[in-house]
Amino acid sequence: MNTPAFETQRLIVRPPVMEDAPSMQKHFNNWNIIQHLGTQVPWPYPDDGAEYFLRENILPRMATGECHAWVIVPKDGPDEAIGFIDFQEEASDRHGNRGFWLSEEYHGKGFMTEALMSVHEFVFGDLGVKRFTICNVMGNEASRRVKQKTGAVFLEEIDLPHNNGVNRAEMWEVTHESWENIKKKKAS
Ligand SMILES: CC(C)(COP(=O)(O)OP(=O)(O)OC[C@H]1O[C@@H](n2cnc3c(N)ncnc32)[C@H](O)[C@@H]1OP(=O)(O)O)[C@@H](O)C(=O)NCCC(=O)NCCS
Repeated sequence: MNTPAFETQRLIVRPPVMEDAPSMQKHFNNWNIIQHLGTQVPWPYPDDGAEYFLRENILPRMATGECHAWVIVPKDGPDEAIGFIDFQEEASDRHGNRGFWLSEEYHGKGFMTEALMSVHEFVFGDLGVKRFTICNVMGNEASRRVKQKTGAVFLEEIDLPHNNGVNRAEMWEVTHESWENIKKKKAS
């Protein structure tokens, strides 16, 4: 299934294109973001990191249907990608099925939660996924909170090396049922 674009109250959440590389590079090349990510993300981040990631990883995998991905563009702001979400139905390892980051300039406004509500609607509705797992490094309170706000239920602690040197991570699960429950809670 093709990856759709979504329009939320404050955001355009759309599939990435190569032209997003410069803005992704600008917003992602930040230790305050990358420290929370797994060691598969290089630090220092290379000058062509976003371009390489889009060209060699995300866009080819989207083309074969292996994954879905979106960039986040604020409606009321510069026309540039300030964040990123990816999702794959079948995780090939224990790193979880979804990743996300948002430019530090935009943290704490509820943007990631807003974007994920549309992504989850697509995942559980259109794709018909029953459940998926996600992880965050211990102590990443913003990520854990976003997970809780979008239907995740804590499963267990696992070992997963991150760039900040911490190897312990939390694993969560989002099920169709936990997603429906959080939607009902938000609507009430
Ligand atoms: C995780 C991330 C995407 C969150 O984006 P965001 O748009 O700021 O998230 P939201 O505003 O939707 O929600 C953040 C929540 O975390 C809370 N939060 C943020 N920092 C916190 C902290 N240090 N302690 C406790 N809660 C915190 C906020 O208060 C908010 O919760 P609330 O709505 O209940 O008040 C962003 O912080 C980020 O890109 N971090 C670096 C990359 C990363 O960690 N990616 C995930 C890897 S698993």
